[in-house]
Amino acid sequence: MTETDSNKAVEQQPKKVEPPEPDEQPGHGEHQHAFADAADRAKKWNDPGRDTWQRPEEIVAALALKPGATVADVGAGTGYMVSHLSRAVSPGGTVIAIDAEPAMVEYLAKRGADLGPARIVPRKVGPDDPELQPASVDAVLTLDTWHHVKGREAYARKVYEGLKRGGRFVVVDYEVGAEVGPPKAMRLEPGQVTKQLEAAGFRAEVVRESMPRHYLVVGHKD
Ligand SMILES: C[S@@+](CC[C@H](N)C(=O)[O-])C[C@H]1O[C@@H](n2cnc3c(N)ncnc32)[C@H](O)[C@@H]1O
Repeated sequence: MTETDSNKAVEQQPKKVEPPEPDEQPGHGEHQHAFADAADRAKKWNDPGRDTWQRPEEIVAALALKPGATVADVGAGTGYMVSHLSRAVSPGGTVIAIDAEPAMVEYLAKRGADLGPARIVPRKVGPDDPELQPASVDAVLTLDTWHHVKGREAYARKVYEGLKRGGRFVVVDYEVGAEVGPPKAMRLEPGQVTKQLEAAGFRAEVVRESMPRHYLVVGHKD
């Protein structure tokens, strides 16, 4: 069953958050240990004051979501964007909340109805693959996570394969010069991200936004 078929199958059912999918790839990358304490991370990542500078409405707009759409959040963490995405694809939509860290996926499953009205699918994946079925999702977001991904061109190709024609891959990450954020050595210029997406087959563009510390790149699967 594709994600879309699966989505249709649950539209008649009461809203629920599915339990995390089984961990079929138990390999542990270095990032997983760094993000083990989900409840502690949530105090910062889910702080409502974050909306004033993260501008989630601009991120949602860049994804061009419609009610009933299926969207994946790669590196969903404690679900900050999942609740925003959930509202944007409702009624009838699905948010696949993907993370390589089991503690994050378990935390998402426990948040339940707090994550919004859409069908929420928490999914534990390996660090090298979002594990999307071919041409199954309308949009993919990755927020503050792309700098963690190893082999970004190969990863972007897997995202490309998972998107439907006309779908979008939105990468939001810290500017190299931002006063806070990940270690500077890990940060990427938006031009590097567009090249990685283009190498994977996307038409990529840096989109204007008003976030003080982030840039936003959209990859189009035309
Ligand atoms: C800095 S947090 C951002 C969380 C969330 N996107 C937010 O903005 O609040 C990065 C998240 O990406 C996850 N992560 C890191 N590398 C990953 C990978 N290769 N695949 C999937 N998730 C990954 C981490 O476990 C963590 O939850």
